[in-house]
Amino acid sequence: MSVGLNTRYIAHRFLKEHVQPGAFCIDATAGRGRDTLLLCQLAGETGKVLAFDIQIDAVVSTRKLLEENSVPTKSYVFLESHTNMDLYAEPQTVDAIVFNFGWLPGGDHTFHTETQTSLDAIQKGLNLLKPGGIMSLSLYYGKETGFAETDAILKYLETVDHQEYTVVTSSFTNRPNCPPIAVCIFRDIITPREENYI
Ligand SMILES: C[S@@+](CC[C@H](N)C(=O)[O-])C[C@H]1O[C@@H](n2cnc3c(N)ncnc32)[C@H](O)[C@@H]1O
Repeated sequence: MSVGLNTRYIAHRFLKEHVQPGAFCIDATAGRGRDTLLLCQLAGETGKVLAFDIQIDAVVSTRKLLEENSVPTKSYVFLESHTNMDLYAEPQTVDAIVFNFGWLPGGDHTFHTETQTSLDAIQKGLNLLKPGGIMSLSLYYGKETGFAETDAILKYLETVDHQEYTVVTSSFTNRPNCPPIAVCIFRDIITPREENYI
């Protein structure tokens, strides 16, 4: 087994491949800020990154991490639910959105992402992506969250319009204990496929 091949590795490789300097990015679940930091490093001094979390502990951690790393990016960390991210960005203007579901590492496990709010935020996020934009989702099965949230998200993703978005799901097929799942979504640039047939 390759050392380091985990869900975060897949998500970060995906972001590194696609996020360019100057990008407008959203971290929908800031947590300890590791994904926000990567987005800032990729977007650079001409980019902009918004990060959301509902826990002050996460907001403080993320701001501290960005300060410690002296990121030059315009970055804003909001104590705010990701279901309101559409108040901060116009439709089809965002280059990359990251979701890392579950609870705050090293934090209070009674606060975690919830099925309905996660579904609402993913839908809003898909609408905010510009053509050519990407979304990364890291999904977990866990003691506190159970199976409902991840199963509902995977079911919803099957219904996303295939003419506008490409959804790729990676699972660790031979790992035990319901391993995490990495989902990579592209908002396609090409004209809707049906028009190509006319
Ligand atoms: C697994 S952690 C994120 C890890 C983070 N990306 C990192 O790099 O450290 C999930 C986070 O989602 C946050 N969260 C839960 N519900 C949320 C919501 N409705 N809006 C925004 N963040 C939420 C939790 O407070 C928690 O900090």
